[in-house]
Parts: sequence; structure tokens; C-alpha cells
Amino acid sequence: GQSEQETLFDINTEVARYFSNNLLNDDEGQIAREYFQKRNIKVQTMRAFGLGYALNGWENLVSFLKQKNIDLEKALQLGLIGRNKDGRVYDKLAGRIIFPIFSPNGRVVAFAGRKLREDDTGAKYINSPESIIYVKGRVLYGLSFAKDEIRKLDKAIIVEGYMDLISLYQAGIKNVVAVSGTALTDEQAQLLSRYTKNVVLLFDADTAGIAASMRSIEILLRKDFDVKIATLPAGEDPDSFVNKYGKEEFEETIKRAENFLEYQTAYFEKQGMFVDPTKAAEAIRELVKPIAIIDDELKRNILIKAISKKFNLREKLLEKELEKALEQEK
Ligand code: UTP
Ligand code: MN
Ligand code: MN
Ligand code: MN
Ligand code: MN
Repeated sequence: GQSEQETLFDINTEVARYFSNNLLNDDEGQIAREYFQKRNIKVQTMRAFGLGYALNGWENLVSFLKQKNIDLEKALQLGLIGRNKDGRVYDKLAGRIIFPIFSPNGRVVAFAGRKLREDDTGAKYINSPESIIYVKGRVLYGLSFAKDEIRKLDKAIIVEGYMDLISLYQAGIKNVVAVSGTALTDEQAQLLSRYTKNVVLLFDADTAGIAASMRSIEILLRKDFDVKIATLPAGEDPDSFVNKYGKEEFEETIKRAENFLEYQTAYFEKQGMFVDPTKAAEAIRELVKPIAIIDDELKRNILIKAISKKFNLREKLLEKELEKALEQEK
């Protein structure tokens, strides 16, 4: 027989096909087709990403699984269905738009379901729970689609969301992976480092996105990435931006990406850290800290010089701070 993993992959593949068929061919799928149309997603793109729709109701998927003789216990394990107190099984993603989540080799490891209307109940996205084939922190959404282009361009753009990646791909920007809301993990950075050492962070232009950028910088530096950060106009995300302004404007945004030091400096400036000396000293130390992560001594020196110049501080002084930070790193 086949391994447990193989069985679960096969179930997900069948279910992905079922969701996709609902979207593309079912009468009820009309509502989802309209949804994607409003968001400027073409049928070809829906097919490429295996997008789908989970029919509304308690047992549409359950019936499909039974009809296909799929072990319901395994479907429960994959989080496709749930079981209530009296033992009845029910569809978990009912009435939602479906995004299959693929392994780097293109196998379906999980699903995300987005609600159709902002005022529908429940979280905006519901994701499959972890399973023996799905460890969240080890998956980068879209990597199977992006890996060749990332290698070719020797650069990856990291975005937050499913729709960001899909809209960019449709616009012809294919060296993109999505972290799916959470901050980047060590394992995701490790995975990406197989394909390139150059990244541009492009998170949503909101408080959560800025915080996620700041947290991701150190994680990437630890894996020896060259880290740049691009910024969008307030309130935009890559999906809304590329649909509003187009591919060329998007590429300009990527070209304008700052190195992490410039980005962090601007961030502390915006927070008013440089108006009083205590906060300013704290900010300078925060700027020096990530530099200590970098292995390349020459790069470290260049960055220290940049701080020295920008704030008119003696290099010797900053080098001392760097030494302290290097001690901490050990
Ligand atoms: P966003 O709230 O920015 O959503 O979350 P989005 O990607 O722009 O989606 P649209 O455009 O509103 O459809 C970014 C990512 O965070 C994860 C998802 O991966 C989402 O794409 N997320 C967000 C969740 O997992 N659960 C949520 O409830 C919300
Ligand atoms: Mn967001
Ligand atoms: Mn969005
Ligand atoms: Mn977003
Ligand atoms: Mn290193």
C-alpha cells in the first residue's frame, strides 16, 4: 500500500478538483465566479492556481467524500470536515472561496477558504489545521509557481496574502511568495534561501504590515539574505496596487526599495525617536543590532559608516556599539 502521506495528498488532490469544478462549472459557483471577476481574476488564473468554491451547506463535501469512498477520518485529520457533539460530520469551508496551498513540488498540502462578503460571519480566511503533510511555518504560499522565476531573477518578493501573489502573477510578476499573514519564520527563510539570497519585503501598507516587515528583517539577515523593503501608498496592498496602477508602477515601487537600514531609520524617525537624546540613543542601538547579524565584515563597516554619516556620530562610538551587539550574537 501507499504511505499515510500519499493517501492524504491524494485526498487533497481529489478535493481540490471538486472545489475547482464548483467554481468553474457549478450553477452555485456563479457567485464565486462573479467575486473573482470583480477582483479582476481571469479564468485562466483561477485554473493556474486551482482556485475553487465550497458550496454552501453542511454536507456537500461530505457527500462528495462518501461518493468517492474517501475515509472520513482522514478528511477530519486534514480539517476538511469537522464533527459536532452528536457525531455528525459537516463541511468546514462551506460558502467560501478556496485557495489550495501547495508544497514546493506542487502537491496540495492544505486549503484556505475566504469568505465571500466582508460582513459574513467568521474569520476572513480559514486555513486547514496542521497535519502530517502541513506544517504552517514551513510553507510559503506560491513557491511552486515562483521558484523557477526566483532562480532566474535571483530575487524574491515577499508579500502577505494569497491574493497579492495571484494578482502579481497574473500581471506577469512571478518571483513572488506569500507568508500568509504571519511573520516570516526561520524555516520559511531557510526554504527560500535554496532559490535566492535576495529579497524584497512588500507587506501591506498598514500597521500590521510594518510590524511584520520589522520582524522579518532579522530572520532574513540570519540566513544571510540581502534584505530590501519596498513601501506602498497607505492602505494599499500589492493586489490593490497592481490592479490600480499596473505592472510598470509596481516595478518602479520595487526599484525604489530601500535597504533595511534606511527603512528602519525612516521608521524610527516617523516614530519621533530622534527628538530626545534618550530615545535617540535607544534607536541608534536598535539600528546597530541587526548589523551585528551580518557575517560580511565589509558590509557591516559600510552600514556603520552610513549611520555615522546620517547622524553625525563618531564611527569609533558606533563600532563600540557594534562590538557589544556582536558579543550578544555569539
Ligand atoms: P489580509 O487581511 O491583508 O488579506 O491578510 P488579503 O490577503 O489582502 O486578502 P483580501 O485582499 O482581503 O482578500 C493577509 C493574509 O493573512 C492571512 C491570509 O493568508 C491573508 O492572505 N489571513 C488573514 C489569515 O490567515 N486569516 C485571516 O483571517 C486574515
Ligand atoms: Mn494585511
Ligand atoms: Mn488584499
Ligand atoms: Mn492585504
Ligand atoms: Mn550567517
